[in-house]
Amino acid sequence: MNVQEQIRIFDTTLRDGEQAAGINLNKDEKLQIALQLEKMRVHVIEAGFPAASSGDFEAVKCIANQVSTSIVAGLARTKREDIGEAYEALKNAARPMIHTFIATSPIHMEYKLRMTPEEVLNEVRQGVSYARSLMERVEFSAEDASRSEPAFLAEVFRTAAECGATTLNIPDTVGYAEPGEFETFVKNVIAATGIQNVIWSVHCHNDLGLAVANSLAAIKAGARQVECTINGLGERAGNTSLEEIVMALRTRKDRFRYETGLDTKRLWAVSSLVSRMTGFAVPPNKAVVGANAFAHEAGIHQHGVLCNKATYEIMNPEDVGAPGSRLVLGKHSGKHAFKKQVEDLGFSLSEDRLTEAMALFKHLCDRKEIITSEDIEAMITNEILAGPA
Ligand code: KIV
Ligand code: ZN
Repeated sequence: MNVQEQIRIFDTTLRDGEQAAGINLNKDEKLQIALQLEKMRVHVIEAGFPAASSGDFEAVKCIANQVSTSIVAGLARTKREDIGEAYEALKNAARPMIHTFIATSPIHMEYKLRMTPEEVLNEVRQGVSYARSLMERVEFSAEDASRSEPAFLAEVFRTAAECGATTLNIPDTVGYAEPGEFETFVKNVIAATGIQNVIWSVHCHNDLGLAVANSLAAIKAGARQVECTINGLGERAGNTSLEEIVMALRTRKDRFRYETGLDTKRLWAVSSLVSRMTGFAVPPNKAVVGANAFAHEAGIHQHGVLCNKATYEIMNPEDVGAPGSRLVLGKHSGKHAFKKQVEDLGFSLSEDRLTEAMALFKHLCDRKEIITSEDIEAMITNEILAGPA
């Protein structure tokens, strides 16, 4: 695959995803997830924040020692101690990367960091130079970039690149951007820095439900790495969902021209592994990996799918490792789906009996929320076939 046309997938399930309130993964769980991400051919796995706790240090070290094809990253503030910890945890990785960050928006610099812009620039210089003296891959993130002053942000990124950063990340830390605005913002930041020999990256949060849309907009503007998480986990409303961005790029190749190279057939399995280990259920209506993502209930839809799946499915369930399309029988279902179900159960009914069975079935739908195939089987055997022919 031509590198120009590849979007690098940076998975941060094990770092930003784990920052979701209520999630706490142990070392073994993190390792299991990391190995599945590697099998799926994720380009970068952010394994954790080594300076955050000794448990996270050990987890990052363990993943760094066992993952061999994906790049393994560890997060660090620009502080020397954090970078040192990240280095120690990552140093045996086949392809290690230190990911260092500092906030650049006026509100974060004044109230959180209590630093002047000059002091922040100095931190960037020292942090990135130190990280780069330790390893050849260094990502620098300007936290809250989307609310930063553009000229200052460009200066920060130029400084990071001069000090050796190989990836420059533009986070929409609080999920405040909207797609049109973010596309222009990213385009202008890249142009203002004049830097081309780095990988431009974005990291979008989902506070307004726009993380995937903003990531796609950023790709149009020149970003070539997207940071994301399985099931969209992460701080507050979460991050860009990996399965959604990957399938959006694949399904709308006509609009994006870029490939991720991921083995998308593994998406469902990885999503359910992460769901089990985090205890965060996947909502049934979740795009791509929700239980209903390929389920059809309304009669008109079921008829369409029975004639040609593409009437109501824009992806093949097999391409994301889903069990397949499902026609769910309910009060909105029509005769076509009902007939198919009856035939699948091994019955062959005359038109009259089928109409009679359909009426009984609709009646049952008003009394029972979920109709199983056993219900239909019993209904046909006891009430249709048992009566006069
Ligand atoms: O949301 C954010 O800005 C982050 C950075 C550390 C990349 O998670
Ligand atoms: Zn984040």
